[in-house]
Amino acid sequence: MSSNPDAIHNVGVVGCGLMGSGIAEVCARSGLSTLVYEVNAKALAAGRDRVERSLARAVERGKLTAADRDTVMSGLAFTTDLADFTDRDLAIEAVPEDEQLKIGIFTALDQVMARPDALIASNTSSIPIMKLGAATARPGQVMGLHFFNPVPVLKLVELVPSLVTTDTSWSRMRHFATNVLGRHVIVSQDRAGFIVNSLLIPYLLAAIRMFESGFAVAQDIDDGMVRGCAHPMGPLALADHIGLDTTLAVADCLYAEFKEPLYAPPPLLSRMVEAGHLGRKAGRGFYTYPSPLPL
Ligand code: 3HC
Repeated sequence: MSSNPDAIHNVGVVGCGLMGSGIAEVCARSGLSTLVYEVNAKALAAGRDRVERSLARAVERGKLTAADRDTVMSGLAFTTDLADFTDRDLAIEAVPEDEQLKIGIFTALDQVMARPDALIASNTSSIPIMKLGAATARPGQVMGLHFFNPVPVLKLVELVPSLVTTDTSWSRMRHFATNVLGRHVIVSQDRAGFIVNSLLIPYLLAAIRMFESGFAVAQDIDDGMVRGCAHPMGPLALADHIGLDTTLAVADCLYAEFKEPLYAPPPLLSRMVEAGHLGRKAGRGFYTYPSPLPL
């Protein structure tokens, strides 16, 4: 490890769901001491299991040796007590896309993180960073650090400063994302949805509207984009992969910010979320999933 006092050695990841587990894995694979928080023991065990399964897949596919997998696991620790984040250089929040929930986490992190220069980042898909920074006494040290699912596979992060993020915090985070995590960094201004979701969500919503109106069946909509445009997944499969609850939350956030009809969620998306048809993680969305799929 570097002796640079600005270097980030100890990371905390808040939330170990689809995104948090991938972020924790990537941090531990980068040699960082990584502490993972979940709200209760059951959620924590499920999150740990998700990380272990992903590492097992990485070994199966020759991306990691069994010995490296063991080293990665030994760099991970798990807790249900946020107070354990006291010594962290950086916390990355990855809880569900709910503004009030995230604000509560930011307030709590600000109270427990003892290092005066500690950074707090959010993996939010859409919520403006200034709203989260304003919940802390250190808004200059708050940024967006947005990963893409599956996190171990997709090497991009969006880095989002708020209006008050300091230059020092920004440089530390940019260096960390690029040189420690090995990510390709793109930079967005602090607007709902940032770069990727401002472009992706209207496309997914257009596909859902197309399906909802009976214009075409799901498989043909997806085949059109996979076979005709060489996308790795069609839009309905991708919405299932992201999670329809997350897709809806991001659309709501974009619509609240811009009031543009292209961001307005179609009724079918809302009904599916209310029905618990949340996509791949729930076993049912636009498609059905008999068992949890590898990615
Ligand atoms: N660690 C490292 N590598 C892994 C891995 C792991 N745990 N698991 C799989 N991989 C590697 C595989 O070895 C393979 O690498 P290779 O091409 O070098 O052999 C590669 O990942 C692909 O794995 P698979 O062959 O198992 O899977 P597919 O080829 O079917 O691809 C997919 C699956 C990666 C999910 C692909 O379909 C895809 O990229 N889909 C699009 C996903 C996407 O768009 N995500 C972004 C969503 S938006 C978002 O997340 C933002 C949020 O805010 C909404």
